[in-house]
Amino acid sequence: FDKSEKPKPLNGKKILITAGPTREAIDPFRYITNYSSGKMGYALAIEAVNLGAQVTLISGPTNLEVPKNVNYYPITSATQMHEKVIEKFTDTDIVIMAAAVSDYRPKDYSKNKLKKETFNSIELAKNTDILMELGKNKKGKILVGFAAESINLKEYALEKLKKKNLDMIVVNEIGKEESGFNADTNKIAIIEDNGIIEELPLLTKSQCANEILKKIIQKIQQD
Ligand code: CTP
Ligand code: CA
Repeated sequence: FDKSEKPKPLNGKKILITAGPTREAIDPFRYITNYSSGKMGYALAIEAVNLGAQVTLISGPTNLEVPKNVNYYPITSATQMHEKVIEKFTDTDIVIMAAAVSDYRPKDYSKNKLKKETFNSIELAKNTDILMELGKNKKGKILVGFAAESINLKEYALEKLKKKNLDMIVVNEIGKEESGFNADTNKIAIIEDNGIIEELPLLTKSQCANEILKKIIQKIQQD
């Protein structure tokens, strides 16, 4: 134990972070997914560890290296992410849902490869909104969501913040090269439940992660 080491702002805090896309199986050989790379969620996990937090990372399939010193739980589908998040939720102080959870899954899963002769379309069923469910059972936890938008960014994000009972929502404009799913940079705005909006310039995803965590630390210190 090194006495010269300063206490870190997130010492003793448990953070649950979700990252990456989910995969919704159609049959054993095909699935529905999105372009999420997981980079934003992984950057959050790395920076939260650096700030002293105990980090649980629940991640969909990505090509990224698992960050050091995190409790890592790989999942595939939205249903699996939902189950794991619920399992870990009670023992956590802060949740950041950075994952791009698929809104739909194929209604029926076929154990055998579907044949084009006999099927013409895929029926979809809606997945549970994980964050919305957490918002209903919040009990003093800090809940942070992401809003991936291509139009009406702030308006849609503010609606999500209210609807899901969040403390903060991070808006990012998808579909742009420098702030898209696979970029190393991001242009975000952070909206707090008091209506304050902070628009940040183009930053690396690590810098964005630090700005988001800084806001969370401020929030903890206010309460
Ligand atoms: N989210 C979730 N469970 C889902 C879908 C989304 O927990 N089934 C979370 C995301 O991780 C994100 C937030 O909800 O933190 C907003 O996700 P987003 O896709 O931007 O919004 P939706 O509410 O799904 O609405 P839409 O996709 O129609 O814009
Ligand atoms: Ca969605």
